[in-house]
Amino acid sequence: MSQFKRFFTFVLAGMTALSLLAGCSQQSSSGSTSQSQPSSAAPSGSPASSSSENPASKTDAAPSESQPASASSESAPAEPETGKTLVLYFSASGNTKAVAETIATAAGSELYELTPAEPYTSDDLRWTNPDSRVNTEHNDPAHRTAIAGELPDLAAYDTIFLGYPLWWREAPSIVWNFMENADLSGKTIIPFCTSTSDGIEGSVETLRGMAPAANWMQGRRFGENLNESAVTQWVNSLELEADGSSQPAAPEGTSAEPASTGTNALVVYFSVPEDVDTTGVDAIAGASVLVSNGTALGNMEYMAGIIQRETGADSYRIVEQNAYPRDHQPLIDQAQQEQRNNDRPAIAGELPDLSGYDVIYLGYPNWWGDMPMILYTFLDAVDLSGKTVVPFCVHGGSGFSGTIRTIRQLEPGAEVLDGLTISRNSIGGAEQEIVTWVNGLPVNQ
Ligand SMILES: Cc1cc2nc3c(=O)[nH]c(=O)nc-3n(C[C@H](O)[C@H](O)[C@H](O)COP(=O)(O)O)c2cc1C
Repeated sequence: MSQFKRFFTFVLAGMTALSLLAGCSQQSSSGSTSQSQPSSAAPSGSPASSSSENPASKTDAAPSESQPASASSESAPAEPETGKTLVLYFSASGNTKAVAETIATAAGSELYELTPAEPYTSDDLRWTNPDSRVNTEHNDPAHRTAIAGELPDLAAYDTIFLGYPLWWREAPSIVWNFMENADLSGKTIIPFCTSTSDGIEGSVETLRGMAPAANWMQGRRFGENLNESAVTQWVNSLELEADGSSQPAAPEGTSAEPASTGTNALVVYFSVPEDVDTTGVDAIAGASVLVSNGTALGNMEYMAGIIQRETGADSYRIVEQNAYPRDHQPLIDQAQQEQRNNDRPAIAGELPDLSGYDVIYLGYPNWWGDMPMILYTFLDAVDLSGKTVVPFCVHGGSGFSGTIRTIRQLEPGAEVLDGLTISRNSIGGAEQEIVTWVNGLPVNQ
């Protein structure tokens, strides 16, 4: 029986009579509906994400059951309840899932994962390949990725955290599919997303249009690496009532995330993991990529993640507007040409507001004995006066080269520390060295 027939039966059984729209029976087998289309997605210049490109087995999740999982150990009540909170999310490569689980723990709420009827493989997620599944789907505005299993009965929930990764600055169409088939009238919706660099606001505008009768709270964007304390702090700041509802005084609207989650530190980094086969390896010398817990990460992404985890800092990844080649030789050739031309490659998306940060961890690979030219673009555009800059770098034999001196020249008003540089040949085993170094910094005493 197709999922939509099951879904229809579910409705007929009266189990979700008040919570689902009758329009679901009009769906095509691809999961698209005949309802109005959301505004077309603005393509992001370069939605690079090594973790998205390497979701490994995380996409092979079993179909979700209709009964949301409880984050607490309490068993499901026999009588229908109301006033509860649900964390409902989609995650292709695990980043949003990690945030969703942290929210559920902090809010004591239940979890429901929107699972695609056909799971996304790592090849499916290769946004750089114009023929990949995500690109084909993205190019068809009517496409809605079909949902595996039944939708949850939302009657018991007053408040729903709605989570997703940004795909071309929008929620993926599986989330649109959910929105078009669920009745969220009167419910409080708290959107959150993970992304490489883009903010959540545009995607929330689109979602709001699909459920205008819901009470929309301010959206919150998180980076690709889980910052547990930032997520927990955010949930606590929402002041959810004991019954799961939120304070009426909580801000409405769709503005971008707060400039800071309370930390005074920001990890800014640039990482270009090369497109190599990482099967069965821990690190690939020279390929700017390593495998950590089964996930391929850029070397700089890996270092940045450890620093962020240890310090509770916020994170901002510098992403190039025009994607760099992911093959080694074309990449280093382009990097050399940019250096010879003294280019300033464009950065995708908006730069972060740095006003709330006193400490900037600045991470970059050593390219041809210098910072990648996109770091110059960044440093030209910001003023780090009065801040402490902590450089970190992965190198192929030259350490920082002259980059510390260069940063001091470009940011004369900043205090630029000596930083930490690690060889690409030993980065895979350098976690403890990074942890010891970052915790020993004067800014962390
Ligand atoms: C197809 C695709 C499109 C993406 N588009 C964007 C984008 O427009 N802006 C952005 O900042 N990140 C973009 N990303 C990066 C993801 O939002 C980011 O890696 C996210 O944390 C993945 O979450 P997940 O692990 O829960 O799937 C994109 C990733 C993919 C696979």
